[in-house]
Amino acid sequence: MSPKLKVEHIRKAFPGVVAVNDVSFELGEGEVLALLGENGAGKSTLTKIICGALKPDEGRIIIDGKEQSFDSSYDAMKAGVGMVYQELSMVGSMTVAENIFMNRQPVNKLGNIRWRELYANTEAILKKFELNISPRTLVKTLSVGTQQLLEILKALSFSPKVIILDEPTSSLADTEIELLFRIIQNLKSEGYSFIYITHKISEVFRIADRIMVMRDGRYIGSKLINEVTERDIVTMMVGREIRDLYGIEQRSRRISEEYLFEAEDITAAGLYEHISFGVRRGEIVGFAGLIGSGRTEMALGLLGAHRVDSGVIRMHGKAINIRTPSDAIRHKIVYLTEDRKKYGLYLRSSVKANVIAPKLRSFSRYGFMKRKSVTEYAIGEVKKYSIATPSVDQKVINLSGGNQQKTLISMWMGIEPELLIIDEPTRGVDVGAKADIYKNIKAFADQGNGVVVISSELPELIGICDRIFVMHKGQIRGELKKEEFSEDVIMEMATGINSNYIQGSQCNEQR
Ligand SMILES: Nc1ncnc2c1ncn2[C@@H]1O[C@H](COP(=O)(O)OP(=O)(O)OP(=O)(O)O)[C@@H](O)[C@H]1O
Ligand SMILES: [Mg+2]
Repeated sequence: MSPKLKVEHIRKAFPGVVAVNDVSFELGEGEVLALLGENGAGKSTLTKIICGALKPDEGRIIIDGKEQSFDSSYDAMKAGVGMVYQELSMVGSMTVAENIFMNRQPVNKLGNIRWRELYANTEAILKKFELNISPRTLVKTLSVGTQQLLEILKALSFSPKVIILDEPTSSLADTEIELLFRIIQNLKSEGYSFIYITHKISEVFRIADRIMVMRDGRYIGSKLINEVTERDIVTMMVGREIRDLYGIEQRSRRISEEYLFEAEDITAAGLYEHISFGVRRGEIVGFAGLIGSGRTEMALGLLGAHRVDSGVIRMHGKAINIRTPSDAIRHKIVYLTEDRKKYGLYLRSSVKANVIAPKLRSFSRYGFMKRKSVTEYAIGEVKKYSIATPSVDQKVINLSGGNQQKTLISMWMGIEPELLIIDEPTRGVDVGAKADIYKNIKAFADQGNGVVVISSELPELIGICDRIFVMHKGQIRGELKKEEFSEDVIMEMATGINSNYIQGSQCNEQR
């Protein structure tokens, strides 16, 4: 059988980097090919070329035996290639229907949009993919996960032959991931082909027929899924063996008795209730829970970025008043966002400008910036967090997704917080960089600071935390000590089946 898609000798250079270096591969009909590689390996760039969003410097793209040259992603779509990008691109202030049919709404002879038809068409698509929302809903009112699913539906609504998904599950809840996998399975049996980019290697074994690995822009190899183990894949990706992802070997950290931070009976009606917990110096406390269980809202509440109706927050045993995020920063509490695009980085500025942003004052003297020390500091940070960039002057928007995450971490660590609240710390980050981030979080705690980690990846929480709280529907349902950690128990608590938490017990224990 001839392949659906054939890619030959693709090359693409940006100033300072060869993002894709002579890559060739084939994709069969009805095949799911997982495209893997470290942050910055060139996965997104390669697939953007295949879907017409970028022009290659060299190489050929052949679809159904016919060579294609795309001037835009619209061209590629017409030729049967659809792509769902890593970044969300829906317009929040428009409805679901308007977003899915953007620039191709049904119109009458006068050019007016036929709204009824638009909504009916959208309704049909939503139904086909089991999404239970109205076509008239404004996109900004939907969860990030649902928006991500809509992006996928939008691409599918063009009936492409080849569908490229770039980290599609990074912000999906478990049920949404199951739904996506069902959709892919169905379409696969109808002959659709997929290129599936992910950093979650366990997904690969559920969904892919074959894997292909890139490193530093180059094609490293391709293997059928039943010929490889997880460890083989990781070794292919990083070019070395990663044995101790969570740094368990060197873990005998000292946690003080003293509480650095305490939250007592924090409530924001409708979002979360009666939240009480403490973080000791040197301690890493995890928050598990399903997406929508209120963890992020709680963090934003503690931080003064969200309304809080009642409750007390203490730092060093003293009640403090946090009304705005800058109050929190003054008390040395920092929150690293799960949505780095929206709340975190200055995308159009350089890596240097971003990492020094919270420290600006310490670099100026008599109102002048000390340029040399700024550059030195930025170079040090790039090294410390292994941010892959040709130089500190590169714009952050040009960094790969995982390297943007590392930049965000460097930036906020720069203000030398005592309590770090970090939401989905390794979303979109490759295995090698994950190990680096865990090491940095631990080193930070070891200096006598406190950390709160909110994560949907249970192995991550289990691997790095000293204690884990489990939230369900806005309440803490469980508290687990290290020796009690188990994925099953956490899942039971997160879904509300099981609970070991007696309200108020935590703060009594603390007194
Ligand atoms: N528009 C651009 N201008 C300059 N450099 C770029 C641009 N786009 C990508 N790069 C660089 O090309 C390389 C490959 O980036 P790419 O986004 O393809 O990586 P990736 O494999 O998708 O990584 P991740 O897993 O982090 O998303 C990186 O070094 C990146 O900084
Ligand atoms: Mg990418």
